[in-house]
Amino acid sequence: MRLNASSPWIPLALSGDIPNGTVIPATLCSKPIAIWRSQSGQVNANGNRCPHRGMRLSHGFVRGETLSCIYHGWRFGQDGACQHIPAHPDVVPPASINCGPLQVAEQDGVIWVAEDQVESQPPRLDGLKPLRSLVFCAEPEAILTASGGTEVDLGVEATLAGTRICLLLQGQAPAETLCLVLVDQATSPKACAEISRALEGIRRRAEGETEKRGAA
Ligand code: FES
Repeated sequence: MRLNASSPWIPLALSGDIPNGTVIPATLCSKPIAIWRSQSGQVNANGNRCPHRGMRLSHGFVRGETLSCIYHGWRFGQDGACQHIPAHPDVVPPASINCGPLQVAEQDGVIWVAEDQVESQPPRLDGLKPLRSLVFCAEPEAILTASGGTEVDLGVEATLAGTRICLLLQGQAPAETLCLVLVDQATSPKACAEISRALEGIRRRAEGETEKRGAA
């Protein structure tokens, strides 16, 4: 499998990371964003800054099909528009109050976000299923080395516990990398548990290597 590096879609979470009615913070091309899933299961993404006083919307809460800011309760819809201001319940918020919706797609158990509006679909991950996501305090290059795998356009392919795995890697901050782990569709629960243990070894080696490079 080789993913298309020219794709505008960035993999930022596994479907299982965001249950219905929850919101998480993420980083899209160095910008903080909030990804949330409505009660009905629709995934949405927008900027992480509340247009009122700048509170992080990822600290907020989902009610129904909207995301509310934790500070003064301004409520935003899936189009990013403010729908309700609790301190002024009779006021219809102007269209200019918007938290910056982003294009989002959920496919093959992965949530993809695009910085700009795009016509294309995210890359397919045929034959793979999501296992888990984790954050390494390590650079992607150190994860590649520690995994003993091969570089592909959005991450690393490797073999762990005799199984083909794919690590989708996204730098979140210096020496901090989000890793979405996918395994071959046919992987048994026992092999999944072995792979999870082996991933901890990769994490230790990658973080140790990154620390050494930082100290050098
Ligand atoms: S800062 Fe978000 S509602 Fe006030």
